[in-house]
Amino acid sequence: LQEIACEKDMKGLKVLVTAGPTQESIDPVRYITNHSTGKMGYAIARVCARRGACVTLVTGPSALKPPEFVEAVAVKSARDMFEAVTQRSAHQDIIIKAAAVADYRPKHVSGEKMKKKDSELSIELERTDDILAYLGAEKREGQFLCGFAMETENLLENSRQKLKKKNLDMIVANSLRVDGAGFGGDTNVVTIITEKEEVSLGKMSKEETASQIIDRIMAMR
Ligand code: CTP
Ligand code: CA
Repeated sequence: LQEIACEKDMKGLKVLVTAGPTQESIDPVRYITNHSTGKMGYAIARVCARRGACVTLVTGPSALKPPEFVEAVAVKSARDMFEAVTQRSAHQDIIIKAAAVADYRPKHVSGEKMKKKDSELSIELERTDDILAYLGAEKREGQFLCGFAMETENLLENSRQKLKKKNLDMIVANSLRVDGAGFGGDTNVVTIITEKEEVSLGKMSKEETASQIIDRIMAMR
C-alpha cells in the first residue's frame, strides 16, 4: 500500500545505489569480506523506488531480497562493483554509495585450494580502486553524489575529510561505537554531513534513516 500512497517526488529521476559487502577471493574456497549485510543500501533503494525513481541497485553478496521495482545487479568483488557502477554512472541523477567495498584484495589468487603447512602464512594484499573517488572525479554538472563513512573513532572529522577528498555532495557518517547503529541491525544512528551543515539523526529504523537522507538530498538538488 505504501507503494501507492507515497508521494512520487522522485518521478523520472535515475538513482544508482550500491549496497552490501564485497568478496575478494584468496583461492577457490576462501575470500576476504566484512560484516555488511546490505540493509541500509536496500532500504535506500526501496525508498527511492517508492517515491517514483528509476532505481538500479548494485549489490554485493547479500541474503536480502531486492526491493520491488528496482533493477538489481549482483556483483562479488570490488573490481566487479567498479565495472558495474562505472558502466552505469554517467546518466544517473543521484548516486548513493552505501556499499562496504574492500580496500584491499589478495595480490595473487590461487587457482587451486591452498594447502596448509606447518609454517605461518602471509597473504600479500593490493589496493582496490576507490569507486567513489573515481565517481567524484568524473562527476558531471547536476549529478548528486552521496557516500557513506564507517568509522570507529574521529567520526565527524574523518567523514568530513572523505566528503572533501572524494568531491561528494553529502556523506552519511556511521559509527560502529554507538548503540543501535552498525552492521546487521534494523536501526541506525547517523550524521548527515554536507559542505554547509551537519545534521545528527537519532536512533531510528534503517528505512526511516533512508527517508531522511533522501528528503535532504531532494531539498538540496
Ligand atoms: N568506497 C568505494 N570504493 C572503495 C572503498 C570505499 O566506493 N574501494 C566508498 C564506500 O562505498 C563509502 C565511502 O567510499 O561510500 C567511504 O568508505 P569508507 O570505508 O568509510 O572509507 P575509505 O575511503 O575506504 O577509507 P577508510 O576505510 O580507510 O576509512
Ligand atoms: Ca574503506
